[in-house]
Amino acid sequence: MTATDGAPLLSPLIKPPILVVEDLRVTFQIHGAKALHAVDGVSFEVRGGETVGIVGESGSGRSVTSLAILGLLPARGVTISGSIKLDGEELIGKSEREMQDIRGRRAAMVFQDPMSSLNPVLTVGRQITETIRRHQKVDRNRAKVRAAELLERVGIPEPVRRLKSYPHQLSGGMRQRVMIAIALATEPALLIADEPTTALDVTIQAQVLDLLRGLVTESGTALIMITHDLGVVAGMCNHVNVMYSGRIVETGQRYALFGSPRHHYTRGLLASVPRLDGSQTRLQPIPGSPSDVIAWADGCAFSPRCPAVTDECLGSPPELVTSEINTRVRCVNPAPPTDTTWEPR
Ligand SMILES: Nc1ncnc2c1ncn2[C@@H]1O[C@H](COP(=O)(O)OP(=O)(O)O)[C@@H](O)[C@H]1O
Ligand SMILES: [Mg+2]
Repeated sequence: MTATDGAPLLSPLIKPPILVVEDLRVTFQIHGAKALHAVDGVSFEVRGGETVGIVGESGSGRSVTSLAILGLLPARGVTISGSIKLDGEELIGKSEREMQDIRGRRAAMVFQDPMSSLNPVLTVGRQITETIRRHQKVDRNRAKVRAAELLERVGIPEPVRRLKSYPHQLSGGMRQRVMIAIALATEPALLIADEPTTALDVTIQAQVLDLLRGLVTESGTALIMITHDLGVVAGMCNHVNVMYSGRIVETGQRYALFGSPRHHYTRGLLASVPRLDGSQTRLQPIPGSPSDVIAWADGCAFSPRCPAVTDECLGSPPELVTSEINTRVRCVNPAPPTDTTWEPR
């Protein structure tokens, strides 16, 4: 581990976790339809100063996991079970009012599309100062000064002038910075970033990721990074959870997991990432689509798309098994270990 790759690996591990999710299950029961197990027994934890990635294709249950953590799922037609502890306090079963208080002070989320999360008819200054004033007892002028400081912190030039802008007057990258500034206004211990850079072009993407990375190292925030992009994960996550159809199929420290991926889905995701070092000539898409899944109850949900499927894959669902390098893999026929030394791009 070098000091230059920006993600401290050892130091956060000695602290108690800020968030502990255990056996989280979220089931949607829509009238007349079969119950949908969107999240199906997910467990992971996040410490302060650590970034934990949740990676997977669309529909794998990543957003539902984060919405469950923040108490943002609809109240009707949804069953949630398991445990979500923030600083030791159980969140499942809390009232909407209690969750509002937690979202205002201890946990925040940044979404993919800042335009739909920002109010189009209020200036960004107003939106930030309102969040500050809900969070701290300060007068309007003090809140304005603090709002300008936050805009400066997220790298927005001429912050005082920008306070008067409306969301549509800003570029996509600037809007995402404003969203991060609003999230930071509450000084959250836990920040969930759900595909925060997907809508941005590559250069701006890198800047926003740098900003989040700095936040984790400087403020000791616990960050959950939700993405489909293994390049993003490689650059900033200490620990990685690969999700498929509502379950974690492989999990581990990023060097171990990317150095020797054992699940065929993880391997497929890695093979579909462009590499700049020329070691790969052609991208390998994973055959099939996430909709080609069977229910976990009938075996491995990835089996219809898996290149190494055997008869054993159908029947009872595979459990997460710890590997010799301390990653955990949900597969009865995992790929053999590889000993390549994996380096982030
Ligand atoms: N409010 C909802 N009502 C019913 N089904 C939902 C709802 N939100 C998400 N789902 C379903 O839950 C599954 C997981 O979705 P989601 O967590 O959004 O996936 P992603 O990993 O892309 O973020 C999908 O099958 C999705 O259709
Ligand atoms: Mg999502």
